[in-house]
Amino acid sequence: MEVLEALATRKSVRGFEPTPVPREVLREVLQISSRAPSAVNSQPWEFFVLAGDVIENIKRGNIEKARSGTAPDPELRIGREASREGVAMGWPPDSVYRQRQVALAKQLFQLMEIPIGDNEKKMQWMERGLRFFDAPAAIVIVVDQSIVERVPLLDIGAVMQSICLAALSHGLGTCIEDQAAMYPQVMRDFAGIPESKRIVISIAIGYPDWDFPANKVDTAREAIDTITSWCGFD
Ligand SMILES: Cc1cc2nc3c(=O)[nH]c(=O)nc-3n(C[C@H](O)[C@H](O)[C@H](O)COP(=O)(O)O)c2cc1C
Repeated sequence: MEVLEALATRKSVRGFEPTPVPREVLREVLQISSRAPSAVNSQPWEFFVLAGDVIENIKRGNIEKARSGTAPDPELRIGREASREGVAMGWPPDSVYRQRQVALAKQLFQLMEIPIGDNEKKMQWMERGLRFFDAPAAIVIVVDQSIVERVPLLDIGAVMQSICLAALSHGLGTCIEDQAAMYPQVMRDFAGIPESKRIVISIAIGYPDWDFPANKVDTAREAIDTITSWCGFD
């Protein structure tokens, strides 16, 4: 698959076929993705690849935590979690960033036939996220705690996007998910992730079920000329 085609067609997949993804395919995805750039070639990423009983136990464990009312305790705080705590990475309530989040939620809820006030259906949708959207596999990206003071998010972002693009050439779909890592202890317990590693992000991965309504989401992008300043051009 051409790079431009991959960049243009990658989208978040939130419904998967149950077909397992062969270990060798996932290894190839990671192998090529590890060509991603990183500051001073530090390659701060490490991967835990989940499948089989391990991922199923994590799905169950996440749901149990949520249903028991346990407060999420993600090791990387972004978006809503961050803004709740006043952390710099959260987006202000009236901002365009928040508006884009709302637009995404509206589209997803419409496709999934979740009425605005239907908290039970909303909860079911949230639980799908905690279950890696029922993907048969997931890749968890961790960084060593020794570099945690400066979590190398730029490098992690580069390898994360590479994984999503490389997956496409194997017919795989992905959804980057902070949601599934909301209860990191569950992942640690079932996948054996040691305390010496910080869980940064997870990526649900599998063969897309293109009939699944949420996979029809078509997210908008800001017009490039409204976000770009051209300097030194005629
Ligand atoms: C850091 C990060 C965390 C994300 N976490 C979630 C998540 O927890 N649940 C989810 O459904 N999508 C998640 N996404 C996917 C975004 O919602 C998605 O990338 C965005 O809406 C753009 O849509 P697209 O990927 O289909 O182009 C995440 C994406 C990123 C980059």
